[in-house]
Amino acid sequence: MTSGMQTAFYVVSAILFILALGGLSNPETARRGNAYGITGMALALIATIFMGDQVHGSGYTWLAAAMIIGTCIGLFLAIKVQMTQMPELVAMLHSFVGMAAVLVGYSGYLGPTHTLTGAASIIHEIEIYIGVLIGAITFTGSVVAFGKLKGIITSKPLMLPARHWLNLGLGIVTIFLATLFVGGEHSSTAITALVIMTLIAFVFGVHMVMAIGGADMPVVVSMLNSYSGWAAAATGFMLNNDLLIITGALVGSSGAILSYIMCRAMNRKFLAVIAGGFGTAGGTVASSGDGEQQEYSPETSADETAEMLNNAKEVVIVPGYGMAVAQAQHTINDITRKLRAKDINVRFAIHPVAGRMPGHMNVLLAEAKVPYDIVLEMDEINEDLPKVDVVLVIGANDIVNPSALDDPNSPIAGMPVLEVWNASSVVVMKRGRGVGYAGVDNPLFFRDNTRMLYGDAKASVDAILGNI
Ligand code: TAP
Repeated sequence: MTSGMQTAFYVVSAILFILALGGLSNPETARRGNAYGITGMALALIATIFMGDQVHGSGYTWLAAAMIIGTCIGLFLAIKVQMTQMPELVAMLHSFVGMAAVLVGYSGYLGPTHTLTGAASIIHEIEIYIGVLIGAITFTGSVVAFGKLKGIITSKPLMLPARHWLNLGLGIVTIFLATLFVGGEHSSTAITALVIMTLIAFVFGVHMVMAIGGADMPVVVSMLNSYSGWAAAATGFMLNNDLLIITGALVGSSGAILSYIMCRAMNRKFLAVIAGGFGTAGGTVASSGDGEQQEYSPETSADETAEMLNNAKEVVIVPGYGMAVAQAQHTINDITRKLRAKDINVRFAIHPVAGRMPGHMNVLLAEAKVPYDIVLEMDEINEDLPKVDVVLVIGANDIVNPSALDDPNSPIAGMPVLEVWNASSVVVMKRGRGVGYAGVDNPLFFRDNTRMLYGDAKASVDAILGNI
């Protein structure tokens, strides 16, 4: 077939990818968006493998072997990975994109096919240099993010002395090395410059993510998502593949927009997040000003909680990471249906960074078939909370922490939170007195109108359901 056919397929794929992004922006159309994405990717693969001059001869054997291995790994992960482990998996996948950009850059430079001359050769070398740079930063940054999300690496920010100077120094050396590499005509100096720059970019990726504290990890995940897109776009330039450029740019820009939305949700400046240092443990509340231990709010039982719900008119449910761990969403949907059948107004309040990835709670609630129209964003529900009789906080902690608003020394100071304490009463379900992801104490657990329901969230909601 002709490469004209390939171009036509690429155009259709690109349109499908754009439709996929549009579909994924709303839970009701997300399934359709996914189908567009899958179809677009299938067409892209068919066009690349069978319709151009990219693959020929023994290339098909190599490709088949790589695809079989990749498919097996992908299937295994898709079946095995829990929803709560998705962010780690996503971070790992970003690292693959980064490494692919590095390898494509090296093979493009060192391989036997470099026939370009003059300005075209210079442009190609700039593409390679930038592609390898972004790819290497994405690779090590994503590996460190994986370690932090999995808990293998501490979530405390690494605060090296003069770290900004270190970053600036690395940046200047990288620019200097670029002047040796571009136009270096494959000399040993040019190759050495490329290798040293790659090593620097690896170090920079580690340092950049190590300096970011646990509380800011959501931004890092979406930022690395964006980087992986730009790395893919750079790979597209290196391979002269228009679809890869378009797809990479779509991922890169949508990741950048997501990072911006995350920063706004957490009241952070993007540059301040990248500069690092947030998310250090602190902001204790367990002792009062005169050094005495404060009392935790009284415990309650599942029976009492059910009683409170039965007598309420307005109920708001705040799901968090613990709901995902306990897989309590299906029982919560059953409780919701029963309460709504009694004419009690039940709504869900979703914080933009609840859980461990963007949209985590929306996905779980959609899976449990909670109606979309009662699932509200933080901004939509915060001002209604004073009129609410009972708020059920299910395995959430940081996102309902009042110290974000009233303790300027808290690591999460300034982050908008769900102001659940304004409701008449709050029931907090958690297993014990553990802290949340940001590692800070939560004054909500000491308030007069809070009741603590200890235990695994699934067991607690099962017991509540039995009493409604
Ligand atoms: P967290 O602040 O992490 O709190 C979760 C709470 O759930 C913990 O206090 C834990 O207390 C409780 N819990 C855990 N397992 C439980 C179980 N089986 N049953 C009942 N309770 C359980 O979660 P959040 O409020 O959803 O806030 C999200 C945090 O993650 C934020 O700090 C956010 O910045 C961060 N983060 C978010 C993302 C994205 S993009 N969403 C990505 C990375 C990090 P016990 O141990 O006492 O049970």
